[in-house]
Amino acid sequence: MEKSFQLIVTTAFGLEALAARELRRLGYEELTVFNGGVTFWGDVLAVARCNLWLRTADRVLICVGRFSARTFDELFEKTKALPWENWIPKDGEFPVTGKSVRSQLFSVSDCQAIVKKAIVERLKQKYPVNWFQETGSFYRVQVALLKNEATLTIDTSGNGLHKRGYRQLTAAAPLKETLAAAMIEISRWKPDRALIDPFCGSGTIPIEAALIGRNIAPGIQREFAAEKWPSFPIQIWEQAREEAFDAIFRNQPLGIWGFDLDSEALSLARYHAKKVGFGLDKDLHFQQQDVRDLRSRYQYGYLIGNPPYGERLMDKRSAEALYQSFASVWERIPTWSLYFICAHPEFEKFMGRKADKRRKLYNGRILCQYYQFFGPKPPQLKGPFASSEVGSLPI
Ligand SMILES: C[S@@+](CC[C@H](N)C(=O)[O-])C[C@H]1O[C@@H](n2cnc3c(N)ncnc32)[C@H](O)[C@@H]1O
Repeated sequence: MEKSFQLIVTTAFGLEALAARELRRLGYEELTVFNGGVTFWGDVLAVARCNLWLRTADRVLICVGRFSARTFDELFEKTKALPWENWIPKDGEFPVTGKSVRSQLFSVSDCQAIVKKAIVERLKQKYPVNWFQETGSFYRVQVALLKNEATLTIDTSGNGLHKRGYRQLTAAAPLKETLAAAMIEISRWKPDRALIDPFCGSGTIPIEAALIGRNIAPGIQREFAAEKWPSFPIQIWEQAREEAFDAIFRNQPLGIWGFDLDSEALSLARYHAKKVGFGLDKDLHFQQQDVRDLRSRYQYGYLIGNPPYGERLMDKRSAEALYQSFASVWERIPTWSLYFICAHPEFEKFMGRKADKRRKLYNGRILCQYYQFFGPKPPQLKGPFASSEVGSLPI
């Protein structure tokens, strides 16, 4: 196996720059950002670190090769020429998935079959067997064709990185963890500020904020496909996990609240916070409350929420009436900044304010805008978020 190889971090559309920012923080500088991901060169430790730490990315892939392919022969020969034996051992299980966009080779199932056959032929030359049992570790190969350019990858993540391990039960219309983390990253919230999600549902935004605030690697509790690969020494994963445990800010105070009307959703949120571990269930506050009653004794906080869109959870009229209440909520917490992800095309009209900034984000397949309403710039706050309190309200 080569010491350094090309890696591809995939993301949902719109989150590429955030994943690149995270990669730079991890120390990877030479990055190429493209639609749906970021590429860079890394080693086995980079694979372990990226899987453990990336909050906004979907997967970490090894790029085995990239070439132009307009015919099945070309796809077969060029795939066969790649060093698959560097990654896939004699007993490795290697299913092939595929996708094709604006390419001459548009039959995805044929491309998958050809890539599978080419890898088998290559491995037969390297291992003295005629038949591969595929009973060993798992190597999900993907052939992705874009404008006649084939990219061949192996997935190191296994389950998508949004599966942190804490969400065990499903709520109505939950946010993907990667998107919740992206919303917090975009807001540039820091743990010395109060944060409220007034529609917390199963708790995704408060939990992701707590993970960020305490500098807990989101993948610290889960496993990754490449952990079982013989080419990845176990010490690499031990080192990356040890670094992650050492990096936790265990004493960082957190001022994070999740509110919702629905008491069942709140039970889920509490259950998920407990599942994360690290005592987060004691530091996150989940309470039943209507957003229309929201107040806070803290200043310069962040309200980050995912209100109903009037599609799945609530009828359109009720959702619009709810948005109309947000302006008066803001009047009660005038120093706060407000962030809403919403698919309703007239959200700003109903709220009665133009957002200072908007950003296109996808919530699954639903095209949304991330509306950002900035409060005034705070004076230099000293100490934990609590130092910015005013008044005598409990929250
Ligand atoms: C789209 S879901 C939020 C999902 C959440 N982000 C998650 O990841 O599970 C919207 C939530 O708003 C809540 N909700 C609806 N009307 C509300 C109101 N007036 N005040 C507070 N919460 C409300 C619903 O109960 C629902 O849980």
